[in-house]
Amino acid sequence: MMSDVLLSVENLSMVFENKRRTFTAVDNLSFTVKPGQTLGIVGESGSGKTMASLSVMNLLPNQGKIGTGKINFEGTDLLALKEKDMQKIRGKYISMIFQDPMMSLDQVYTVGYQIVEAILAHEKVSKAEAKERAIKLLASVGIPHSERVFNSYPFQLSGGMCQRVMIAIALSCNPKLIFADEPTTALDVTVQAQILDLLKKVQNEYNMGIVIITHDLGVVADIADRIIVMYAGKSMEEAPTETIMFRASHPYTAGLIKSMPKLSESVDRLYSIEGMVPDIRNMPKGCRFCTRCPLVEERCRVEEPEMREIEPGHFVRCYKAEPQKEGGVQING
Ligand SMILES: Nc1ncnc2c1ncn2[C@@H]1O[C@H](COP(=O)(O)OP(=O)(O)O)[C@@H](O)[C@H]1O
Ligand SMILES: [Mg+2]
Repeated sequence: MMSDVLLSVENLSMVFENKRRTFTAVDNLSFTVKPGQTLGIVGESGSGKTMASLSVMNLLPNQGKIGTGKINFEGTDLLALKEKDMQKIRGKYISMIFQDPMMSLDQVYTVGYQIVEAILAHEKVSKAEAKERAIKLLASVGIPHSERVFNSYPFQLSGGMCQRVMIAIALSCNPKLIFADEPTTALDVTVQAQILDLLKKVQNEYNMGIVIITHDLGVVADIADRIIVMYAGKSMEEAPTETIMFRASHPYTAGLIKSMPKLSESVDRLYSIEGMVPDIRNMPKGCRFCTRCPLVEERCRVEEPEMREIEPGHFVRCYKAEPQKEGGVQING
């Protein structure tokens, strides 16, 4: 039933335009998020992950615009909304957490002021009530001495504490959906784990949908229900998390998995996929991954493969993809 879906994105394309040409940063992306569900969007830097989320929030940079597609949030066509109406949705029903909490917080105002403002922007409560809620929120995201932190400035807090504050702001109006774009990338490993635990905890409490965007498969391996692997603006593989982690079928996904650090290996032996994500101004012909693919064949350089459902719920954009045994597709020797 449609009413079970919070957000549905259908065939979304997002483009940059200059006088002479159009460059596609997000190409025909589709996904849905249900309440209580976490979707992971994974891919190296430059894959179009951030542009996909900014498209949904209607926060695209200048020159960036939606090419085609539909974005529907609880029955509302977001692409048809005026900015004034989108503002009522942003922060209230859909919140966003960004990579760098130090940058997203305003250094000139106290933490408390910023949370209170976020609450007052969307809800008719008194300042005193908003303050009380803000302090409770700070405590609920694991901030000790929440009353003292309420009166602190962001620069007085660690990066991990600032990210907790950002999560408190994101939660301040009980959103139904959170976009978290590289929420732990700027943090050290221990704090990363704490922030991911926190996201899981608040999700269970509020039954929110979460879209977590990251270049690091390790970040979503524990938290996501489904994963979309993006490459150069396109979805290359999409499946339940266990399928992606243990039975990946796209050579790109296999490369991402192979590059995850393992406890048993020393860092200097770490695998990495050779080369870089192609620039949107210079996409290869055929499959976008063909220039780096260890399994490339002639046809891959000629025509781009379609997305195929190789088993129920498991979609792959690769000519050679087939259901895998434990261990996934083997990408070398
Ligand atoms: N302001 C901009 N103008 C032109 N191209 C941009 C701009 N911002 C991003 N891009 C391009 O859009 C593509 C997708 O970027 P982005 O969504 O930020 O990737 P990701 O979040 O996966 O690292 C990249 O090729 C990037 O170079
Ligand atoms: Mg990004």
